[in-house]
Amino acid sequence: MTTTSPSTSTLITGIGELTTNDEHLGTLTDAALVLSGRRVEWVGTATRAPDADERIDVEGRAVLPGWVDSHTHLVFAGDRSAEFAARLAGRPYDAGGIAVTVEATRAASDDALAATLRRLTEEAVNQGTTCLETKTGYGLTVAEETRAARLAGEFVDEVTFLGAHVVPPGWGTDDYVALVCGEMLDAVAPHVRWADVFCERGAFDADAASAVLTAAAKAGLGLRVHGNQLGEGPGVRVAVEHGAASVDHCTYLTGSDVDALANSETVATLLPACDLSTRQPLPDARALLDAGATVALASNCNPGSSYTTSMAFCVATAVLQMRMTVEEAVRAATWGGARALRRESGEGAVGVLRPGARADVHVLDAPSAAHLAYRPGVPLTHAVWREGRRAR
Ligand code: NIG
Repeated sequence: MTTTSPSTSTLITGIGELTTNDEHLGTLTDAALVLSGRRVEWVGTATRAPDADERIDVEGRAVLPGWVDSHTHLVFAGDRSAEFAARLAGRPYDAGGIAVTVEATRAASDDALAATLRRLTEEAVNQGTTCLETKTGYGLTVAEETRAARLAGEFVDEVTFLGAHVVPPGWGTDDYVALVCGEMLDAVAPHVRWADVFCERGAFDADAASAVLTAAAKAGLGLRVHGNQLGEGPGVRVAVEHGAASVDHCTYLTGSDVDALANSETVATLLPACDLSTRQPLPDARALLDAGATVALASNCNPGSSYTTSMAFCVATAVLQMRMTVEEAVRAATWGGARALRRESGEGAVGVLRPGARADVHVLDAPSAAHLAYRPGVPLTHAVWREGRRAR
């Protein structure tokens, strides 16, 4: 995703509560920010703010870094609301519906896929999301996975190759893994920064997942894993052994999974909207946080298991149902997502508001971030800047 740089500087003042996620700045009251071009230029107390070309008074509202949604599947066609309704009437989620989306996605034109990407990214940005990851995984041929990666790169910040989503009809697992690790990886790698594998019963076992991760690392890609979504299993272990940046879902964890995550650099990315939509238990965020693991929250927007772009919904659920504090949940949906994408530090960092960070700002129509859980379901996004550009 590329945008042209805005030329003016903007002073955002009158901030009632400013969450910076910066270890030195912390959370400020009566604060101000200066955005210059694509970057944050200054952060501090409103009375000390420097001048800027433009001045916006947010009249006591709370300001956060934009949401960093580190797990979505936005390259798809088709509708699975009938599967969703059947599930709520008692049918279990078993990932079998992925094939339905694969068929619809293969049949869709580039324009149709791009229109969905545009619609969903705009929907997300309008709710305060300023950095988005998305995955391939509904193509599952060399040409379709390459097309998905290329289209995704026009709309989002980070693209992940998920050729190893499921074994498509007509293929044996060994032959398909060989394709993913060979010709498909070679074709898709120039368009992506990450590779992912769904390590779960009904998808890929530990050996197949390891083969995919080994090949992807050799091709220079960062690694992520879908794991422990439908039951306890090897996903977390495999992710940690391969040094994956994140393992996503983490719905069913053993004590040793929690310990492994707490003693690793692998982020536990929790997807509560998915667990609710598939009638799974919510993940044990408290066990992960209390053990010292890094936790991210993401939407997992996809047509099958989690058809929402609302990070605010994920934050409210994490606070109200998963015993995360407001501070923990907001941090997980901003800094945590940035850490899962290895974008939390350095020039142009996201999920944080400090000089040099990307100018990704979310102004709430509320005096404090606590309102995200205190007023669940209420749209609270007042204004958004993405890379320094006013997006809402
Ligand atoms: O993250 N777990 C695998 N992939 C998606 C589900 C995709 C689908 O059902 O279409 C997920 O939940």
